[in-house]
Amino acid sequence: MAEKKRPALKPAPEEGDRLQKVMAEAGLSSRRGAERLIAEGRVRVDGRVVTRPGLKVDQSRSEITVDGRPLPRAQKLHYYMFHKPSGYLTTLADPQGRPTIKGYLDQLPVRVFPVGRLDMDVEGLLILTNDGQLAKKLMHPSSRVPKTYWVKVAGHPDEQDLEKLRSGRLMIGERPAAPGQATLVKTAVDRAGQSRAWLLLTITEGRHHQVKRMCSAIGHPVVKLKRVAYAGLELGSLRREAIRPLAPAEIRLLEGAVC
Ligand code: URA
Repeated sequence: MAEKKRPALKPAPEEGDRLQKVMAEAGLSSRRGAERLIAEGRVRVDGRVVTRPGLKVDQSRSEITVDGRPLPRAQKLHYYMFHKPSGYLTTLADPQGRPTIKGYLDQLPVRVFPVGRLDMDVEGLLILTNDGQLAKKLMHPSSRVPKTYWVKVAGHPDEQDLEKLRSGRLMIGERPAAPGQATLVKTAVDRAGQSRAWLLLTITEGRHHQVKRMCSAIGHPVVKLKRVAYAGLELGSLRREAIRPLAPAEIRLLEGAVC
């Protein structure tokens, strides 16, 4: 039987993405894998086999199938910066009924989750996203993403104490903390007559209670902790409890931190 004649493919839309990118974003395969599927003639756009990987397609206007099955809709990726207030757990549910950040996340138009965590009594910069792949890489210990904390500690640490934070030899638990960058910003005596100091501490690990354990290990326990930078992104003047979308350059910084 003669094959039914199909209309010629619509001209490539002005807007749209390369076919292999659309396929990769739909979670079907890597871009390379998508190129292979295309070369093998297994991909159709509006019913016609496509063998040209660079074809621009708009998934909302064209039907794309692979081996006859429709391509799942690509999920748009969203990235936000959240100034987490203290007093909330960085989880979406707590069996003990403590306050969590879920209420803040529910205000967003898309479902996102936090990248890593901050202790309940810690405030500061938290990335929220639905980009599971990037989140996983950022959280992986091998990524060594820099995180900077504004730390108020008890007492007045001296240069030797700061050197311990920087050294890579300070034991927390069974192994030493990776070298950090530590700067003493100011010292003061509070109204109750207690000596306090403020440090800026940058670490590249994310072990449980890491900063608190490091500061306790030098004999200057944390009184207050705030994360002010993550992977080169800065909290800046974002007010407590506020959430804002990341700018494209900030998303590139996050991506650059893990490649
Ligand atoms: N270090 C801590 O001790 N707590 C945090 O939440 C983050 C880093």
